[in-house]
Amino acid sequence: MKVAILGMGSVGKGVASVLSSKDLGVMVTGVADSRSGLIDPDGINIGALLATKRSTGLCGSAGITAMDVVRGAPYDILIEVTPTDAVSGEPALTHIRTALTMGRHVVTSNKGPIVHALHALRSLAASKGTSIRYEATVAGAIPIMHTLADGLAGNEVLALYGVLNGTCNYILTRMAAEGLTYEQALLEAREMGYAEADPTYDVKGIDAAIKLVILANTIWGTSSCLKDVEVRGIDLVTLDALQLAEDQGCTIRLIAEADPSNRILRVSPRILRSRHPLVTEGTLNAITLVTDLAGEITLMGKGAGSVETASAIIGDLLAIRSRYGRCD
Ligand code: HSE
Repeated sequence: MKVAILGMGSVGKGVASVLSSKDLGVMVTGVADSRSGLIDPDGINIGALLATKRSTGLCGSAGITAMDVVRGAPYDILIEVTPTDAVSGEPALTHIRTALTMGRHVVTSNKGPIVHALHALRSLAASKGTSIRYEATVAGAIPIMHTLADGLAGNEVLALYGVLNGTCNYILTRMAAEGLTYEQALLEAREMGYAEADPTYDVKGIDAAIKLVILANTIWGTSSCLKDVEVRGIDLVTLDALQLAEDQGCTIRLIAEADPSNRILRVSPRILRSRHPLVTEGTLNAITLVTDLAGEITLMGKGAGSVETASAIIGDLLAIRSRYGRCD
């Protein structure tokens, strides 16, 4: 199976290093970052690629663009892991549309195109006999899409509740445990690499709202968008409020909730008892699905991180291979 990787940030490097350290039968024939690209039909040496990226900041030659890789590299699956632009979805949307139009499969962690155009991209993929998978867009390593599609197939999902932003959870955890101020905890979260390039996406609840829309549209086939979500972030949560909650055996978490029967699509800070299943520590995400057959199912795991997000990408790659054959 041949893949091309667009994006050599934290997720792209994570995917590349997993593919070089595990023998999964996956060959990388193209890579691109925002300033350079590399195509090798015989397979790129990933160790050398990562070393070059570390020393020069580039993954290949400045004359090769991401679109050159999309159009010119011989791959079965495009791995689109460039940074999210939640406003336009671009340039990832164009990369993905082009690859699908060319009859290639797509796996992405990029929330922009999925929140904007999930159903259109799925229709395009279906018309070409290919697929688009996006496990890594929501809750990092947690296999929520696989669980919905396979493990809970036949269930009706009635509602969902979740902690979908690791940065906010980390900040609230650090404030409550160590008495850090919001500003100190945010600085830590940025230094640890959890936050988005623009951390207002995290702390104002926008990142969680985007993930909620992706989940809701996937589960219920709706066409909700960001403006349909009632959003409040954690930027106004004070240390005093947290300590007051803690004194009463409770804490505060940023909870995303979707409940179609009550027309709820909301992200907001909520007071929860400390032993509530959604009270996770640090960057851990958690999702409770309320279903008709299985009852309540709560999944918990790492919501961000290079290798953790790569885990979701690799799961999608291997799912495509098992569904469509070895592609080689
Ligand atoms: N900034 C995001 C978070 C990264 O903190 O959850 C994963 O989408």
